[in-house]
Amino acid sequence: MSEHKALVLDEVRKYHQEQEQWRDAGFVPGTTEIWPSGAVLDEDDRVALVTAALDLRIAAGMSSRKFESAFARRLKRRKAHLTNSGSSANLLALSALTSPQLEDRRLRPGDEVITVAAGFPTTVNPILQNGLVPVFVDVDLRTYNTTAARVEAAIGPKTRAIIIAHALGNPFEVAEIAQLAEDHDLFLIEDNCDAVGSTYDGRLTGSFGDLTTVSFYPAHHLTMGEGGCVLTSNLALARIVESIRDWGRDCWCEPGESNKCLKRFTYQMGTLPEGYDHKYIFSHVGYNLKATDLQAALGLTQLAKLDSFIDARRRNWRRLRDGLDGVPWLILPEATPNSDPSWFGFVLTVDPAAPFLRSALVDFLESRKIGTRRLFAGNLTRHPAYIDAPHRVVGSLENSDIITEQTFWVGVYPGLTDEMLDYVVSSVREFVETHG
Ligand SMILES: Cc1ncc(COP(=O)(O)O)c(C=O)c1O
Repeated sequence: MSEHKALVLDEVRKYHQEQEQWRDAGFVPGTTEIWPSGAVLDEDDRVALVTAALDLRIAAGMSSRKFESAFARRLKRRKAHLTNSGSSANLLALSALTSPQLEDRRLRPGDEVITVAAGFPTTVNPILQNGLVPVFVDVDLRTYNTTAARVEAAIGPKTRAIIIAHALGNPFEVAEIAQLAEDHDLFLIEDNCDAVGSTYDGRLTGSFGDLTTVSFYPAHHLTMGEGGCVLTSNLALARIVESIRDWGRDCWCEPGESNKCLKRFTYQMGTLPEGYDHKYIFSHVGYNLKATDLQAALGLTQLAKLDSFIDARRRNWRRLRDGLDGVPWLILPEATPNSDPSWFGFVLTVDPAAPFLRSALVDFLESRKIGTRRLFAGNLTRHPAYIDAPHRVVGSLENSDIITEQTFWVGVYPGLTDEMLDYVVSSVREFVETHG
């Protein structure tokens, strides 16, 4: 390493330690913010970012490739492709299923994709963005997931795929739903954005579906600032994902590489002349959804801490769950049977019969600097963007409506301390005791 670089990085470490001293002012109940989510970044993360910047690795490069192979191994998939967000990962995964290269299995406009009504919008948006029709099913309270029975009831003659998120880290019945997908020749995409490290039947979520997506936004289990990933063990799908991510091109050379296949000037595709440069042959109507090497460099140092992040999330969730057990008028969350969630948040639903409003409880917590969030969109079908969009609903969306009115979540991310979590518990208890 050059002397100047070593000096800069040494200063970066010192700067980080100085910043941490300022940050570490101690917890003051009611004054210190208890965020619902956030990135936990250490000295190594700061150094990784600065190193990538010093090396001017500004586009996807060495760290991106390294991260993709390490993350694929970690999630037990053969291939991972980095993207610039989790939303892009979902767009890419679903768009891949429309590829002409899938021939008869290709999804075509008007085909139906089963999903849930209560969730994050960009799990659903790629269905509409590809001219497909979302079919919404309800979820259960307590797990906030749908069931295989509801998905099965929604399968019709036009159904071609299923895309569902593991709700706030809690796995849906993914083994049963993957079996349904296989029995009915449907594709399954697991939106694993909130659930990295969760298991179902002892197997990692994200390892059941044809395709899996992850988000690296700061709220998630590991962060790159912005970023996401599509994973699959199907090599044909992986090629399609890469093509659509990288402008739709047919060539699979990495940026900066040329002619890895040694056939760059020998292809004849479409009605192009023989030998047209393969780097500029486009087999898909693609996007550019790539991430940068700065993001990947951060991803690598974050990945080294993933196990400890997951442990902390589980510990924090358990502390809230034990602390709030037995509190009246609150519907407390439950792990889906046969699962071990790597939690994203701690979800609370105020019983509709409670003598207080959800908003009053939320206002009380927020006044104590305890951050709350909604279970994302609640019932998506009630939002202006979706009211006139083509869709089908199977069964009632009664619980999605309850979620829209009565549900919120608080944080379990690794940046929270026991003191903070105990303050959350005592605040909720105090509110319910005085208003219940
Ligand atoms: C379930 C789910 N899917 C997709 C996304 C989108 O990820 P991103 O914010 O990286 O676009 C999120 C974001 O939080 C999410 O919770």
